[in-house]
Amino acid sequence: MAAANEAMTKKLIVGSLKGGVGKTTVAVNLACALADGTRTVVLVDLDAQGTATEWLEAGHLPITGQGLPLENTGGVRRWVESEQGVKRLVEQVLSVDADLGIIDLPPHLSAIAAAALTLADLVIIPCGASVADVSATAKTLDLVRRARAIRGGDPPVILVPSRVDWRTSAGRAIEGALAEFGELVGPGIGQRIVFADSLGVGEWVGQYAPGSAAHSEIEVLAAFVSEVLGDKPPLARPKSRRSRPRA
Ligand SMILES: Nc1ncnc2c1ncn2[C@@H]1O[C@H](COP(=O)(O)OP(=O)(O)OP(=O)(O)O)[C@@H](O)[C@H]1O
Ligand SMILES: [Mg+2]
Repeated sequence: MAAANEAMTKKLIVGSLKGGVGKTTVAVNLACALADGTRTVVLVDLDAQGTATEWLEAGHLPITGQGLPLENTGGVRRWVESEQGVKRLVEQVLSVDADLGIIDLPPHLSAIAAAALTLADLVIIPCGASVADVSATAKTLDLVRRARAIRGGDPPVILVPSRVDWRTSAGRAIEGALAEFGELVGPGIGQRIVFADSLGVGEWVGQYAPGSAAHSEIEVLAAFVSEVLGDKPPLARPKSRRSRPRA
C-alpha cells in the first residue's frame, strides 16, 4: 500500500561515519526484506559512490530507488553546505512516494548527513567488531544526539552488529559492547560470503540464497525494525541475539 500522502512516508536512515561497515549491504537487503507486500519501499542513495544505485540498476531487486545527483550540481561540497542544497534534500526525500524510504548515507560527515538525521524516523548504525568501528559508532551517535537535541527526542537508533564473525571472541562480545551506548541493539549480521556474492549479481540475499543464514539474519533484522517502527509484531528469534526494543 503506498502512502496516502508524502508526510506518511517513514524515513529510515542507514549510516555510520566508518566506511565499509556494511551500510549499503544492510540498507539494500533490509529494504528488500521489508518490501514484503504489506508496504512499498523506496531506497534513496545519498552516497556519491552510488553502490546502492548500481545494485538497483541491475534490475533484479523488488524495490525502486532514487539517487540524488549531487555531482551535477556544481560541486558536492558547496551544494550540500548551502541552505538551498539542504532544502532540496528535504524536499526530495520527503517526496518519496512509498510507505517507507530507506536512505543509504555516505561514510563521511556532511551537511547532507546531518540534514538527513533531522528527517529520520529511525536510524540504523551498522558496526563491526573492531575498536575503530565502535569508536566511529560513538561519533555517529554524537551526530544523532545533536539531531535529537534540535528535534526534542527523535530519532530512535538501532545499533546493528555487522560483518560479525560469530566464532571469534570479539564477534561474540560486540552486542555487549554496543549495549553500553544505551541505545537499542538489533540482531546482528554475520560476515557471510553470500552478502558479497549477491551484491555481485545484483540480487538481495532473499533472491540469491533463500533460506540461508544470511537471509534469515536479514529477515530477523527486518522484523525487529518493523517492531521499532510500530508496524508489525516481531518474529521469534534466538534469545542470545535479542535485545528488547523500547515501546
Ligand atoms: N555481512 C557481510 N558479509 C560479507 N561481506 C559483506 C557484509 N557486509 C558487507 N560486505 C562486503 O563488504 C564490502 C563493503 O560493504 P558495503 O558497501 O555494504 O559497506 P558500506 O558501509 O556501505 O561502505 P561505504 O562506507 O564505502 O559506503 C562490500 O564488498 C560488501 O559486499
Ligand atoms: Mg555504502
